[in-house]
Amino acid sequence: MRIGILGTGVVGQTIGTRLVQLGHDVKLGARSATSDKAAKWVSDAGTHASHGTFADAAAFGEIVFNCTGGMVSLDALKAAGADNLRGKTLVDVANPLDFSHGMPPTLSVCNTDSLGEQIQGAFPDAKVVKALNTMNAQVMVNPSLVPDDHDVFICGNDTEAKARVTELLRSFGWRSVINLGDISAARGMEMILPIWLRLMGALKTPTFNFHIAHS
Ligand SMILES: NC(=O)c1ccc[n+]([C@@H]2O[C@H](COP(=O)([O-])OP(=O)(O)OC[C@H]3O[C@@H](n4cnc5c(N)ncnc54)[C@H](OP(=O)(O)O)[C@@H]3O)[C@@H](O)[C@H]2O)c1
Repeated sequence: MRIGILGTGVVGQTIGTRLVQLGHDVKLGARSATSDKAAKWVSDAGTHASHGTFADAAAFGEIVFNCTGGMVSLDALKAAGADNLRGKTLVDVANPLDFSHGMPPTLSVCNTDSLGEQIQGAFPDAKVVKALNTMNAQVMVNPSLVPDDHDVFICGNDTEAKARVTELLRSFGWRSVINLGDISAARGMEMILPIWLRLMGALKTPTFNFHIAHS
């Protein structure tokens, strides 16, 4: 599959590398077509990897991942272009974390709205699926780093898009994918972040995840 990734940070690069390893063609998007970070990733990731602008990556992908900072995701997606996202599955991995008042960050949107919903509202012709935002980047693509059973959550309005994302997640090694329903479930998925951050401090590692025990 051709996959576009918006974002050159640790998340975009980690997901991109895993997708290339799984045999997909991946284009990493940045603000600039000549991003050094993206070029370095391409030289490390091999012949199935390429890079360009956010618009280039979005146009390239049959599926597009949003791996940009949550405070700038709407700007990055505007640069990617609504036309390039039309009809496509848009996997939103971003968290709306506001670091402008120091640590710990606050959520710039919560309770009655979410970044996932804002993205779906701004790009109504894209099929937004929120996924993978509730864990560290290494765990996203290699769940076996965390022992025992643990879960990844997804939500979104389009059933087929969620099925496509579930298939990709299974190819990463995920066994338990919990579908939380429509995109408004992004509120809860994003509001997990304050407890995630406290857990990282308490456990002194980012390599952990949530397991939902149920009957
Ligand atoms: N780190 C984790 O383990 C983790 C886990 C779960 C979720 N997340 C979420 O995943 C997302 C990506 O995190 P990250 O740490 O990999 O990367 P990041 O540093 O949050 O974001 C990097 C991307 O944001 C773009 N960007 C920065 N300022 C911009 C602006 N003003 N307008 C448009 N784009 C701009 C950068 O563009 P350039 O390439 O042009 O510089 C870059 O591609 C975040 O939303 C984060 O909360 C992270």
